[in-house]
Formats: sequence, structure tokens, C-alpha cells
Amino acid sequence: MVSELSDLSLAERAALGSGADFWSTKAIGPAGSLVLTDGPHGVRRQTGATDHLGLAGSEPATCFPPAVGLAQSWDPALVRRVGVALGREARALGVDVLLGPGVNIKRDPRGGRNFEYYSEDPYLTGRLGAAWVRGVQSAGVGASLKHFAANNAEHDRMRTSSDIDPRPLREIYLRAFSHIVRTAKPWTVMCSYNRINGVHAAHNRWLLTELLRGEWGFDGVVVSDWGAVVDRAASVAAGLDLTMPGGAGAGDERVVAAVAAGTLPEAAVDAAAANVAGLVARVRAAQAALGGTLGGHDAPDGRAELNGAAAGSAVPDHATGPNPTGIDALAEEHHRLAREAAARCIVLLQNDRDILPLTPGRSIAVLGTFATEPRYQGGGSSHVTPTRVDTPLDELRALAGDGTVTHHSGSDRDEAVAAAAAADVAVLFLGLAADQESEGFDREHIELPADQLELLTAVVRAQPDTVVVLSHGGVLRLEPVACLAPAVLDGGLLGQAGGGALADVLFGAVNPSARLAETVPIRLQDTPAYLNFPGENSHIRYGEGLFVGYRWYDARDMDVCYPFGHGLSYTTFGYDGLTAEATAAGILVRLTVTNTGARPGREVVQIYTAVPDSAVVRPARALAGSAVTAELEPGASEQLSITLAREDLAYWETRTETWVVEPGRYRIWAAASSRDLRAETDLDLPGDVVRIPITMDSTLGEALADPKAAAALAEVFGGMTESMGDGSAMGMDMLRMMSSIPLGRLTGFGMDEKRLADVLEAAGE
Ligand code: BGC
Repeated sequence: MVSELSDLSLAERAALGSGADFWSTKAIGPAGSLVLTDGPHGVRRQTGATDHLGLAGSEPATCFPPAVGLAQSWDPALVRRVGVALGREARALGVDVLLGPGVNIKRDPRGGRNFEYYSEDPYLTGRLGAAWVRGVQSAGVGASLKHFAANNAEHDRMRTSSDIDPRPLREIYLRAFSHIVRTAKPWTVMCSYNRINGVHAAHNRWLLTELLRGEWGFDGVVVSDWGAVVDRAASVAAGLDLTMPGGAGAGDERVVAAVAAGTLPEAAVDAAAANVAGLVARVRAAQAALGGTLGGHDAPDGRAELNGAAAGSAVPDHATGPNPTGIDALAEEHHRLAREAAARCIVLLQNDRDILPLTPGRSIAVLGTFATEPRYQGGGSSHVTPTRVDTPLDELRALAGDGTVTHHSGSDRDEAVAAAAAADVAVLFLGLAADQESEGFDREHIELPADQLELLTAVVRAQPDTVVVLSHGGVLRLEPVACLAPAVLDGGLLGQAGGGALADVLFGAVNPSARLAETVPIRLQDTPAYLNFPGENSHIRYGEGLFVGYRWYDARDMDVCYPFGHGLSYTTFGYDGLTAEATAAGILVRLTVTNTGARPGREVVQIYTAVPDSAVVRPARALAGSAVTAELEPGASEQLSITLAREDLAYWETRTETWVVEPGRYRIWAAASSRDLRAETDLDLPGDVVRIPITMDSTLGEALADPKAAAALAEVFGGMTESMGDGSAMGMDMLRMMSSIPLGRLTGFGMDEKRLADVLEAAGE
């Protein structure tokens, strides 16, 4: 392919770096062009009008739970299966690159696009995002890891600068990207709209080349977010390969002009063209390897196989566009998967008096418009045209047995309240409407609409057995709901089969196992970025640093409404025999989980770690591992082995610009949420020995902490104390007082320059 490229003129090579139109690359020889499209929770294949805001229609495709829902499963194996299905639909619709997953950290609950992202935690985000990439790519479709990087707000997103210190940038905002690039190897990465510390992502050589390719070994295509490039030549110089959407060609001409003017190396143009050509070859080879199948079949053990047999429809003809037979053949099977996945995403937030599961045969008053017009996905570029949509009311009726199920929208309150009073139980659907949250803008508050809370108050007064079902993309203030309703189910957004999934969980056909992937605060004012969101004058200061999500609430010992990782079950679990052992890979944790209740169910186990005597600022605890048990029968146990990877224990050492696993004692918790710590153990880990070079600018304290420098200084101080005539003055307190003085300044206090130079030399040996 590269040799073919060398036959092309500079103008032709430059032209390969921009799209042919809104969704395709330019054709390269017989390999042809590629079709890219959104993503991430369904395929948005537009065959008519095109846009990047989800305004024009698209071909029907399965709408799986958006990331806000999917993340609550905490289950990479499930996410991978969804990824396989997405990949197969993409191929059936003639799509070669699916624009996802979105793995930006949910820094603030007001972020307008939080529904498209997984979590406030980088470990969870990284593991789920990697599973999505593996699933999609196993079907011969490229993933596009987005939005790289630090795109954590929608306000002013095409100009604003995310101003972040090195540690939070590395440890919180880049960590999931790094994990996914290194372990799941996405074929493309999409750079974000925003600037990072002043430099546009699309022009950021450090981000796109030094970090992504240099440190992480990325070997695919960097594609721009749609319209993110300000200066084509600058973006090519930074390492951006493909500018989307395609324009009139003026950008290509500027690239050629910049080469002619000597401001852009021709090699950079060649590298971008070669990467685009390489992607075409990679996609075609993967699709050819899958033969006549749509690929990505799930093995019985839940792991996807690259070449497994699939519901056999032909590979679509890319020249003639989507293949309707393909998507139709997948629709039924994928709707079932969407329902299974959605049920695994529904969090049981509370269940006082064991009101849930509902008993078939009892009368139910279903209330609220979301019961008949479900809110199941977010607005903007990820908006999918579903193959069908289950309504919760119909699905509840299907499982209700002989019990009467009535429905009232709640617009006539008295009627709704009377129906609730007359029934055995009320199920009240609350949440945010589509126009209250979307890509493109952030929310200003996290309140449920006031009229919904008034309805809830009246219904609970009339019917104490009231279950609330929540639909929303971003976190809500749930304190009023938690106080009023005895039982609360939170699905976030559940995709097209959410109605059936809710019925499954409400009636106990599925025992809920999902967990919150974000903390629900008591008030917006408690949130970590409250005073720094969405910033001003195109700058967002990430002033909370490392303390994002639960890291903040735990560090400040603040009460929350529902903690990160929280979720109940219709059964109970015991955690026993927690052990931890150091291995080359990190820490191997083992424990036994037993179903101690009366119903079958699965448990999500969370492993948090801390370094109590850390030399650097650290969260009180951070998630470093998790596992989902199999469905356990009552009384059954499962032994879990969970590896905490060294990369997840490390902090970013700003002085050496390296990752460091601190030597010392680690505390390890097995937990059912960040606040429900069930078992704890300690482990001494050898860690990395980091030697910070001792220079004239090192403080006396730093030098004394360094064995070599300390030995050399001991001699010097011996001499100084003699000359001062009073040895006691150089006791501990004196040293402590002096410990912040840089060595170079000691000359001002009488230290001989030559002796100081000797100390530095000795320290450097
Ligand atoms: C979004 C991307 C999306 C692209 C194409 C942009 O507005 O930020 O996530 O993939 O449009 O629709």
C-alpha cells in the first residue's frame, strides 16, 4: 500500500487526509473507501441527509443501552457481547468504523453528554471501554476511541481549554484511554473538540504523537471529531491523520502549500496518508478473514470469537450501501440481547420492606408518561433509529398475570392518586425529558421537574407501597425520592428493550445486580467541580485535581445520597477469606462470595486500594479491580481471583515524569460499594525505587531523605555545628525548620560553595 502511495502526487496524498464526504474516506485503489458512523450504542447509518447532531434520520438499528446504563452492569463480558452485536449490525449496514466508545470521565453531573460516557472512575471506564472495542473489532469493524481528550463538558466545547495539572490529567482523564489503547488496540482514535492546557486536541503534538503513539504504541488512525480541526496543516504536523467531515478541498490545498512553504514536513503528510491507507487495508483484511459471516460470534462461555458462525447473512456490498437483509436478520436476536443487557443495567437503589419484586396477580397502578413513551437514549450524534421500542406498560401487563394494571399519565393528579390508592401497589415513572439533557449543552441543575416530585408526594401519601422507576442520562438529586419512596429502580437510559427489562426486574424474573457508576450527591453544591464548571472565558480549571467523584466525597468524609458502586439485590451475599499476594502483574486478590439469601443472583465485587502512608497526595481509596460472579443459587459460593494491575496502583510522579508504584503497605478492601467495605487486608509491596536527582534546587529535607546525599551532608553539618559552637542548635527541630531551604541557598547562610558542590557530586554517584 505504501508503495502505491509513493506513486501519488503530494496533492493526492494530502487529499487522503480528509474525508470524501460527511461519512466516508476517499477511495484508495481497489481497497476502496471506508464508511465511518456513530456510535456508540447503536449504528446511526444515514443514507439520506447527513449531520453530526442526530437531526436527520438514519436506518433502523438496535438501540442498546447507552453507556450510562451499560456501565451500571459493571460487566466487561456483557459489554463485549453488546460490542459484537454492534459490529455485526455495522457490517450489515455497510459501516466500517463505528464512532465509539466514549470514555471521557464524568467530572460533573451537569455534563450534557454524561449519558454517552461510562463513569466517574477511570478503572471502570477503561475496562468497559476495552471490552466494547474488542467486541466491535472482532466483527471486522474498527472502533474510534473518543473524545481524546479531557472533553468533560459541552459548554463552549469547540474552543474551551481544559486546564488540568499533570497528575489528574494522567491519573484520571487519560488513564482509561491509555488502558484501552494499550490492551484493546482500537483501530482509530477520535480527537476531541476542546483544547488541553491551551492547545487544541487536533493540533496537539504531545497528545496525538508523543503520548498516543510514542508512549502507548498506537498504530491506527487519528480522526478528528467532526469539525474539530482549525488549521489543517497544524493538525497534520501534530499527528492527525484524517480530518472529518470531508470539505471542499481547501484544507488539502493548505497542506500542500505548507509543505511548499517549508512549514510542514512532507513526511508528516506521508505518514497520515499511510495510516489512512493502512486502516483501509486492516479493515478489509479483518472482514475478509470473517468470510461470509458478520463475525464476532459469542462463544458459549461468553467470550467472542473472531471467526464464529453468525446469523448467516452475506457481507454487504460496500459499493451499493446498506444491506437490509443483514439488519433484518439480526434484529430479533439483538432485541433479545438488548433486553438482557438492559436488565443487567437496572440498579435497585432501595427496597424498604422488600416491596420488590412485585407479585403477579396483585393490582398495579402504573403512573407517568415514561411508562408509555419511554425515555431510552440521549440526544445528539449518538441518536439511533431503533428497530422497535418496548413500552414498560405493555411489558408489565405481559408479566402481571391476573392482576389489573391501570395506567395514568399523572397530568390529572387526582385521578392518578386515586388509582394509586385503589391498587395494591403503585409504580411511578419519573425522569428527565429528551429536551432537558443532550449533547451540545450542559445542564444547569440536577433537579427532577418539580411537578414530578409533587406527584410523588401525593402518590406516596395515598399509597405507601410505591415503587419509583427513574429514566435519565445525567445524575439527579434523589434525596426527595429516597426520603419518600420505599423502593427505587434506576435504569439511567436503557435502550429500546428497556421496557421489557424493567418488567423483568420489577417482577423478579431478573434479580438486579447493577451498580451505580457515579455517585449520587446530596446536593449539587457538594459536587467536586461545583465552583469550576463550566468555567469562563473558554477556560475550565480542573481545580478539584485528583478528587473526582467518590474520591472527593471520601477525602472530605461527606455524606452522599447513594455512593459510587451502590446497588441492592433481591438476595444477600457474604464475603469471606479475603487474601492478597504480590505478583509480577500487581496484586492477586482472592475471596469467596456466597449467596446467603433465598433467591438466585449475581454479585458485583469491587476491590478498592489505598496507600495509607503514601508520600504523595492520594485518594482515601480507589477502585483497582472488580468482578461479577456467575448467577449463584441460594447457598452457593464462588471463589474469585482478581488481579489488581500494577498500572492501576501507580501514581504519576511529576518530577521524573514516570508512573511509580510506591513501595510500602497497601490496604485492600473487598466492597459492595465505595462506602460498603466488607473485608479488608494489608499487603507490603516492594514497589518501584525512584531516585529523584539531587540538585542545587533540591531542599535540605529532600537531600536528607536521599541516603547518599544525607551521608555527605552529615559531614558538612558536623563541621558547621562545630563552627557554630553549639551542637544542640542543630538538633531535630532546627533541621526541621531548615528542611525547606534549597541547597543552593545554604551558601547565603555560610555554607562553603565547594563543600556543597562536593555534596552534590557525592549524591550523584
Ligand atoms: C460528536 C462525535 C460524533 C461526531 C459525528 C460530533 O459532534 O462529538 O461524538 O462521533 O459528531 O457525528
